[in-house]
Amino acid sequence: MKRLLYIWTLSLLCLLLASCRHTEEPTPWDVPIPYGFPTRLNIPDDNPMTVEGIALGKCLFEDGHLSGYQGTHPDSLMSCSDCHARAHNYDIGTDNPRFPGGKPHGRTGIHTRHTAMPLCNLVFNHEGYLWNGAVGYQQSAGAQTIEDIVKAAILAEDEIGSTEARTLAALRQDSRYPEMFKKAFGSEEITMERVQKAIAQYVRSLVSGNAKFDRYLQGLEQLTPQELHGYILFTTEEGADCFHCHGSGGSPLFTTNLFYNNGLDAAFTDPADRSAITGDPMDRGAYRAPSLRNVTVSAPYMHDGRFLTLDEVLTFYNEGLQNSPYVSPLMHKINEGGRHLTPNEIADLKAFLSTLTDEEFLSGDR
Ligand code: HEC
Ligand code: HEC
Repeated sequence: MKRLLYIWTLSLLCLLLASCRHTEEPTPWDVPIPYGFPTRLNIPDDNPMTVEGIALGKCLFEDGHLSGYQGTHPDSLMSCSDCHARAHNYDIGTDNPRFPGGKPHGRTGIHTRHTAMPLCNLVFNHEGYLWNGAVGYQQSAGAQTIEDIVKAAILAEDEIGSTEARTLAALRQDSRYPEMFKKAFGSEEITMERVQKAIAQYVRSLVSGNAKFDRYLQGLEQLTPQELHGYILFTTEEGADCFHCHGSGGSPLFTTNLFYNNGLDAAFTDPADRSAITGDPMDRGAYRAPSLRNVTVSAPYMHDGRFLTLDEVLTFYNEGLQNSPYVSPLMHKINEGGRHLTPNEIADLKAFLSTLTDEEFLSGDR
């Protein structure tokens, strides 16, 4: 009898515990997959996305105390959002008071090797992160995930430039976090691994797929004749011929996420281009083709931010191509130095690119 009572009490206890635990479980968050997007997602098994994890990640992403200082002096603080600003498609922008001309540098003033990248639709990318794809390069034993990028950005001298101990000490001063960590991860403990996981969840939640062009694809909105003509130019070889590397209505990420030399230069000195990762000399001057979603607000352009406006980019593709043995064979007009479209055609192409701007994404609270 005693034994039965014991078992009964024990199972009641387990049940109670289980139900308590249950109410504390974070709420799973399903990535909203926009119309026509691929459904294969790049989410590590050990970091499923949750509502509470994303909320914590957003808070940390924007928190200057990531730099390990507990004060409020703006020069001692640096967050991810200093270089990845939402209004600029989570890129750096050219009007950033901290980084004139969109040339990022770390807290100590050391410049980054390349310019910053937009953080948009990264959850759909399986080809590697960073301009050269170093993170996630399958043959390497190095960094593989966005979680790894978070830690590297916090520690790197040319970025946030902190130490693990300093960052954690600064975050532990903030009375909001214990509760938020508990909701996201089950206990109040603030660890680097949890910081990495939460911020990575937030970055993966940044999905943009509600631009005018998306609504056009769904038959909800019309493109103007000019935008439509720009779209046709974009997707035809005899037109502007952009789609091989930057996608189209049929591959609506507006990038293949692959690596090409698009004819920017004739000589190459960057020690961190794609060839540094693959070891293939033919990859000299090759970089990941950026997505053209929200491209109107993602300046400065190219891996070194050399172009400050979209007009400069279009002039480059039209008449500024530099030949070298490394240029991608998909740059079909390399021998003519560019596409040589008329000013009207350039204007149409630009009008089409503007239909990829997703106002809701850039302003909304997602
Ligand atoms: C000082 C500016 C700066 C800060 C601060 C910064 N980044 Fe970046 N970020 C960059 C630069 C520059 C690159 C491109 C590096 C390269 O490829 O050479 C980049 C690239 C990335 C990428 C890769 C995107 C892609 O498409 O491959 C991710 C993800 C990222 N950063 C996330 C973060 C997070 C999260 C934080 C905060 C923990 C952060 N960054 C802080 C400048 C910054
Ligand atoms: C052979 C592949 C290829 C083709 C074709 C191509 N691009 Fe690119 N594009 C790239 C690569 C690679 C980059 C990044 C290069 C770098 O940073 O050095 C890029 C960069 C860009 C950027 C800068 C984006 C940013 O955020 O920095 C824009 C804008 C752009 N391309 C538009 C176009 C347009 C418009 C066309 C058609 C006229 C086109 N591209 C054709 C591969 C290509």
